Amino acid sequence: MTATAVTRIGSLVTNDPGLGSGPLGLVEDATLVFEDERVVWAGPAAGAPDADTSYDAGGRAVVPGFVDSHSHLVFAGDRTEEFNARMSGRPYSAGGIRTTVEATRAASDEELSANLRRYVAEMRAQGTTTLETKSGYGLTPDQEARALRVAAEHADEVTYLGAHIVAPEYVDDPAGYVAQVTGPMLDACAPYARWIDVFCEEGAFDGDQARAILTAGQARGLKPRVHANQLSFGPGVRLAVELGAASADHCTHLTGSDVDALAEGETVATLLPGCEFSTRAVYPDARRLLDAGVTVALSTDCNPGSSFTSSMPFCVAVAVREMGMTPDEAVWSATAGGARALRREDVGRLAPGAYADLALLDAPSHVHLAYRPGVPLVRAVWRRGELIG
Ligand code: NIG
Ligand code: FE
Repeated sequence: MTATAVTRIGSLVTNDPGLGSGPLGLVEDATLVFEDERVVWAGPAAGAPDADTSYDAGGRAVVPGFVDSHSHLVFAGDRTEEFNARMSGRPYSAGGIRTTVEATRAASDEELSANLRRYVAEMRAQGTTTLETKSGYGLTPDQEARALRVAAEHADEVTYLGAHIVAPEYVDDPAGYVAQVTGPMLDACAPYARWIDVFCEEGAFDGDQARAILTAGQARGLKPRVHANQLSFGPGVRLAVELGAASADHCTHLTGSDVDALAEGETVATLLPGCEFSTRAVYPDARRLLDAGVTVALSTDCNPGSSFTSSMPFCVAVAVREMGMTPDEAVWSATAGGARALRREDVGRLAPGAYADLALLDAPSHVHLAYRPGVPLVRAVWRRGELIG
């Protein structure tokens, strides 16, 4: 075993209240020690065990690597024209997904894989050490299974989203498409995924269809998560809570009973600030959710349509400025919150036993992630104890 110490950390976010102050478990003048891929010490420099090698943080801040719990990285092409039109006033709709479905179907495995590698590299360079990604731009059994195979090569968590929109071949037969998604497509995809997701929205799938899709996935051992209440009020959030989904994602249009359901249930509300930024939509009200006691995660939703950013620091900054979060809350949600949304205990925190996944910031405090928007503050990244950038 090789022990590595990161010394002279000015401010260390552990996300373990037992190790430091407040919900972030903040330790000043800290040392972090990891052996191979796991943390063995996080705390004041004075008590740290000896290590074989050390890295001088020079008084800078260290945070847990970001946990990006929601992205759509298996795609080809882009949607520059759609973005341009939107910035001239055209609204976002689920219909644009079809453009990416066409491009993705036409791409080779190698192209899809190279594309995915590129976006994963962008994420890593910005401090993301755990990421989820989905299918959803193939919409046939073969294409969806291929997308998941490609996803599994590079992502930590893989989600089957055959129910992104009704496939073009089935526009006149949505029930037939739901039968595909819950039948042959599920058979082809289940071996590659841990999660099943559905876009529960007008123009995509209604509450009954979403329930049928998610419960079919559950019967095959997949765990549910839901694209819910993004463009309008609807049944998605309540369905997610009822089925014990790990996460309801978007949560932009919520009634009081949606908020109550989230507060009482085990489902994390995953907010995606890049999406409202890029679609010029109203932001979700994180303050309302936090004040009601809901667990909130932040994620990029990186995809070519509604949110083409791979940057968790960007999401933190927007969430603070536009969604009523404090910098501490946003950093927690982008790390520990994402881990909760993926039901992971081993990431999103820097405490003994957790993976040594961390980002060193060119800043004295994690607050700078919101205070210095757009500035590339991530100076070094370790993933599973390995310096990766
Ligand atoms: O999470 N809302 C559904 N899916 C994606 C957008 C996909 C696209 O526009 O290509 C989202 O925002
Ligand atoms: Fe999404």
